[in-house]
Amino acid sequence: MQSSPPAGMLGIDFGTSNSAMSWAAPGGGTSRLIPLEGEATAMPTAVFFNAEDRCTHFGRDAVGQYLGGTEGRLLRSLKSLLGSPLLNESTVVNHQQISFQQIVEIFLNELRERAAQVLGAAPTRVVMGRPVHFVDDDPARDAQAQQSLQDAAQAVGFADVSFQFEPIAAALDHERRLTRESLVLVVDLGGGTSDFTVVRLGPQRMLLADRSADVLATTGVHIGGTDFDQRLSLGQVMPLLGYRHHGPQGREVPNRVFMDLSTWHLIQWLYLPRAIAQAQNLRSNYSDVRLHERLMRVLAQRDGHRIAHEVEQAKIRCSLQDTDTTVDLSGVERDLAAQLAPADMAQHLEALLARTVACARECVQRAELGNASLDAIYLTGGSSALLPFQRALQAEFKGVPLVEGDLFGGVASGLAYSRA
Ligand SMILES: Nc1ncnc2c1ncn2[C@@H]1O[C@H](COP(=O)(O)OP(=O)(O)OP(=O)(O)O)[C@@H](O)[C@H]1O
Ligand SMILES: [Mg+2]
Repeated sequence: MQSSPPAGMLGIDFGTSNSAMSWAAPGGGTSRLIPLEGEATAMPTAVFFNAEDRCTHFGRDAVGQYLGGTEGRLLRSLKSLLGSPLLNESTVVNHQQISFQQIVEIFLNELRERAAQVLGAAPTRVVMGRPVHFVDDDPARDAQAQQSLQDAAQAVGFADVSFQFEPIAAALDHERRLTRESLVLVVDLGGGTSDFTVVRLGPQRMLLADRSADVLATTGVHIGGTDFDQRLSLGQVMPLLGYRHHGPQGREVPNRVFMDLSTWHLIQWLYLPRAIAQAQNLRSNYSDVRLHERLMRVLAQRDGHRIAHEVEQAKIRCSLQDTDTTVDLSGVERDLAAQLAPADMAQHLEALLARTVACARECVQRAELGNASLDAIYLTGGSSALLPFQRALQAEFKGVPLVEGDLFGGVASGLAYSRA
């Protein structure tokens, strides 16, 4: 392995659900995605601290170990903790006290090492993607989120760290495939955030050194696929554990535990002894104690991420096939399952999708297009494939063609390229 860092720029798309990296050689005008797990160029943003072999596992390997029942701790949606005081809280893994900021570092360090394996040496320059808003309506926390990511990148050895908006990176990647000038609304709907930009793109414009005049507007909102999973879980699954269930006094079971259990980045806190004791105390709030027994079994078995994963897969199936599907909960109780129909999905997600589409509308309004009109809507990010979302977007922007892009690699490709 060569020791001096390779000349060029690394792009890291540290996503809520999946991460990807690209590499641009100096002056090359292109970038290539870096294989991360075998041939795969995107990998789940997941860390598993295996209590049996005491090793740390990443990506599909991490998720697979957890789902396979290996003893240990799974962490997902780390990006959702950026900008939150929870980032500095610590947790015990394999007898070691460790903060969530350090877990972000551990993940970025692994990405850097995987890049080094492909490039021959560890890169020192990186452009990191960031959503338009890490945190909505709170500039101080938003700035803190970026600072935490920068600190983590520097801590693992990146000497030169810069940031680029994720939707602009996606736009620059899309531009390389265009043959004529177009006015495009770029939609990046991921796991944690929805980001929009209206940009003027085209083969001639690509040659310009300064593209700031082509970016007509950017907007973003903290809504993504993990929020969809939460709503679907609360709507279809959590009632089986007691959400909205009434106790002997006619009062609903306090809902906090169900909120946390259906929220990817909060699940891990429910396994602390204090949280288990609080859940145990809910028993008197149930008129049907079988539902409480299910809840306690889920916590004892640390099944939270497994249920979230089942809900996510059901969401994807329901969207792809546009038919009813089943959420398998047989790990909680024999033959237990929840149903998910396209109409349920549309209803549970309606309010979130309306806010997301409103954010897209605001982006187009801010772009002040005058007499010009959009030539296309370019879709990237896994959640942009969601059928009810595409329907809502099409209803808002009638007649504008939707173009599906590289759902999981577009942002990373554009990142390295944007600063090469
Ligand atoms: N076919 C599909 N239909 C609907 N949703 C999907 C589909 N495939 C993946 N998803 C969802 O896409 C999300 C992940 O997308 P992506 O990898 O683009 O997000 P991310 O880049 O990690 O997140 P962010 O950019 O918000 O930080 C997950 O919530 C996943 O459930
Ligand atoms: Mg993304």
